[in-house]
Amino acid sequence: MELNHEDVVRLVQTHPTSVVTTVNEEGVCDAASFSWLSPVSHNPPMVSIIVSPERYTYENLKATGEFVLNVVTKHFLDDVMYLGTESFRDNPNKLDEAEVTLEDAEEVDPSRIDEAVVWLECVVDGMHEAGDHYVVVGEIVAAEVDEEFWKDGRFMAEEAETLHHVGGNKFLVGGNLVEWEE
Ligand SMILES: Cc1cc2nc3c(=O)[nH]c(=O)nc-3n(C[C@H](O)[C@H](O)[C@H](O)COP(=O)(O)O)c2cc1C
Repeated sequence: MELNHEDVVRLVQTHPTSVVTTVNEEGVCDAASFSWLSPVSHNPPMVSIIVSPERYTYENLKATGEFVLNVVTKHFLDDVMYLGTESFRDNPNKLDEAEVTLEDAEEVDPSRIDEAVVWLECVVDGMHEAGDHYVVVGEIVAAEVDEEFWKDGRFMAEEAETLHHVGGNKFLVGGNLVEWEE
């Protein structure tokens, strides 16, 4: 469904663990798990992912400058752990061995993951070295959310049961929604 700029960045307002897809110079797709990410700008809509230069994903971002941020849910947890521990650098068949359905993105070369509930297609705006990681800022050029989880102008992260990484193999899922009233 179509979203305005304000809404697009709210899709990652809760910092959901996501799978980032990229392509190398031969056009081969990689996918890896990311829990360090954030909205950056409303207009133009931008997000950031925090990437170690050890990741093959980092090489792809440098070489081809595009990614898709696929927000996944607890139903995808096995794949999150697999994609987050196996590297394309060691295993170019990484994706063939995962339970992942790739589909064409609208505006960028990296594929979308069909099992996700939010898709943010991004073009890299800058890669900023910060300690032992890079802050990679992407401008969102196409965005979509599973309509089932978009109600009353917001992403129902608690209903989608997105993953929120605590560390290691532990995640927060769901939780209690607290509404402040004056
Ligand atoms: C839950 C989870 C979250 C992760 N978050 C990040 C992250 O935010 N940044 C990062 O550089 N690596 C992160 N990783 C590690 C990469 O996903 C992992 O090194 C992956 O194998 C890289 O694959 P690639 O070399 O094919 O890009 C995470 C791993 C897991 C399991």
